[in-house]
Amino acid sequence: MAKKQNTIGLDIGSSSIKLVQVSQSKQGLTLENIAYSQLEQDVIYDGAIRDMGRVVESVKALVATHTVKVKNVALSVGGHSVIVKKISIPAVSDKDLSESIHWEAEQYIPFDPNDVYLDYQVLQTRPEQGQMDVLLVAAKREVVDQYVQVVREAGLKPVVVDTDCFAVQNAFELNYGLPQDQLIALVHIGAENMNLNVVSYGLTAFTRDLHMGANLYTAEIVKQMGVSYEEAEAYKLGGGNQILPQEVERVLSAMSENLASEINRSLEFHLATSGEERFHKVYISGGGARLPHLAAEIARKSRSEVELLDPFRAVRVDPKVFKMEYIHHVAPFAAVALGLSVRSRGDRA
Ligand SMILES: Nc1ncnc2c1ncn2[C@@H]1O[C@H](COP(=O)(O)OP(=O)(O)OP(=O)(O)O)[C@@H](O)[C@H]1O
Ligand SMILES: [Mg+2]
Repeated sequence: MAKKQNTIGLDIGSSSIKLVQVSQSKQGLTLENIAYSQLEQDVIYDGAIRDMGRVVESVKALVATHTVKVKNVALSVGGHSVIVKKISIPAVSDKDLSESIHWEAEQYIPFDPNDVYLDYQVLQTRPEQGQMDVLLVAAKREVVDQYVQVVREAGLKPVVVDTDCFAVQNAFELNYGLPQDQLIALVHIGAENMNLNVVSYGLTAFTRDLHMGANLYTAEIVKQMGVSYEEAEAYKLGGGNQILPQEVERVLSAMSENLASEINRSLEFHLATSGEERFHKVYISGGGARLPHLAAEIARKSRSEVELLDPFRAVRVDPKVFKMEYIHHVAPFAAVALGLSVRSRGDRA
């Protein structure tokens, strides 16, 4: 059976690098490779790469140790440097759309239009109103160029640049389909950033990026308990097999309540503007999905069922090749990389 496996999904996050490669055949997707390595703190800060050499070395090491042969890479950018916005514009023909978008974009994007890469996707046209809904994406050139350069310097070939938000949606769609009869939210919680994507009856209805993530918990433990960042991070992750001291537990639970409130504020915003009553389900992913109490707090506040997004739900994983325990461990981190790995050259970002 002919297999198609021409792209690596590479997710360079501020705390870790994730790489996923799948093959596609008539039977569906099969996992071919998965790799994960942590980055030191401050190598990437506020979405910008501060130490290019370090990131290049890490990517090279991942590719070498996992004997990844494929060179084509789909990568993504997220956080501060990307803006995804649903806008409504007067309906125009396909031919005039690009120009119209560039014109309209200026009023929606807080960056100089010359400093960004613009892309868009038509969500729906509403001929009765003479309007069309378009998802607008603007990513800072400077930052995109940095990530592209890292990939090149690591000896790979960047062929697609996507955003974290769409990569998560893609991972979801591949594994769960896009339910046409449900209002769902995808909440991806990384170390520094979080993106929220409301998919309403099969269509992206609302996206929001929040500059907050799992690192906030570590910072709060440092502040409250006067321990080093490394100690605080270990506490956050459960401190090996030790039982959490009560104080840490208190901080973790307070932080989860804060984060869940923030997430719920965005969910409520969508409910208020759409007139819907509640979400059928909220899917969480990213390293932050593992944060103690967070899923339960989101469920409590949003009165919705919360589920961990499993990026390998519909992907065949051969237990003779991969340790299943490891796959379960890295699954929440792998959503973006998996979503990227099925992109191929020419796909729209
Ligand atoms: N078991 C766990 N419990 C709590 N937090 C965890 C756990 N495992 C990982 N984390 C946290 O998740 C974060 C890493 O998640 P992830 O790899 O998705 O982020 P990233 O992609 O590097 O960050 P970003 O996209 O925001 O730049 C870190 O803050 C880490 O401490
Ligand atoms: Mg991330």
